Amino acid sequence: SDAAPATPVPPLKTLPDAQTVTSVRHWTDRLFSFRCTRPQSLRFRSGEFVMIGLLDDRGKPLLRAYSIASPNWDEELEFYSIKVPDGPLTSRLQHIAPGDQIILRPKPVGTLVHDALLPGKRVWFLATGTGIAPFASLMRDPETYEKYEQVVMMHTCRTVDELAYGRELIESLREDPLIGEMVEGKLFYYPTTTREDFHHQGRITDNLTSGKVFADLGIAPMDRDHDRAMVCGSLAFNHDVKAVLEGFGLREGANSEPREYVVEKAFVGEGI
Ligand code: FAD
Ligand code: A2P
Repeated sequence: SDAAPATPVPPLKTLPDAQTVTSVRHWTDRLFSFRCTRPQSLRFRSGEFVMIGLLDDRGKPLLRAYSIASPNWDEELEFYSIKVPDGPLTSRLQHIAPGDQIILRPKPVGTLVHDALLPGKRVWFLATGTGIAPFASLMRDPETYEKYEQVVMMHTCRTVDELAYGRELIESLREDPLIGEMVEGKLFYYPTTTREDFHHQGRITDNLTSGKVFADLGIAPMDRDHDRAMVCGSLAFNHDVKAVLEGFGLREGANSEPREYVVEKAFVGEGI
């Protein structure tokens, strides 16, 4: 016949490991969170991080480490992000909208996992800034409340508006028909600011060493027999908190050797 051979349709150019953004929320001019589809095969332990990103101008993946902020039972994934004005990734990532695609490498890793801690009575989640992200996952994981009688979330930021993501998350937990009952009387939230007036102020390190947080919450001071801790903040914060925890007798653990506390970087560098 004289029919022209069918022109093959070029394959649609999709991102490697592409996931679709489902919602975005901007909390301040420096902070936003977003949700995306979850690869069906992705299993992770609450507290772990993955590499996510976008294609750069030359079509090469530009990836950064991000803690998964959603719990492992959630059918979607959630992330909580800084906006670095000149940051290679976040100067662009901050403009994503529902329907856009991001790259997500489905290889979760990290030290802020229950398996890295010896059994205990009380667990402390100690975070500054976006370091609350892994705890946003762990606080929504029923395993946290099965493993511990008390959970204390200390989150410190410079200003009140930077605490909003964490505050809303904890409010929604308390109102949740399922998890609400689980966290009732168990989850202690202790947010503080350091550069703006707020009902509780001061650095996490200072509020632990002075004993103010124990007094304010009406709970016993930390000790090695009962207390476990997970730390996520800047390098300087992590360094200083480690010294405080060691002062209470806690020792750093790892997946391969569980002990009383574990640490993860919230980011590398001096911060913005
Ligand atoms: P980069 O070139 O990566 O960073 C530029 C500079 O910005 C850094 O040197 C640092 O000074 C500052 N900076 C970067 N990230 C932050 C931050 N989160 N808070 C304050 N200052 C920062 N970032 C998140 O926003 N959310 C997360 O859940 C998260 N999880 C991480 C987990 C791990 C294990 C690590 C190592 C980093 C994590 N980060 C997280 C940081 C993230 O990987 C990127 O650094 C960040 O997205 C900025 O990327 P960028 O390319 O725009 O700038
Ligand atoms: P401060 O305002 O006293 O520096 P940053 O935005 O610089 O990453 O800080 C986030 C929060 O962590 C701020 O409230 C800051 O307090 C606090 N912070 C920074 N460095 C340390 C540290 N070494 N130890 C305890 N808290 C810290």
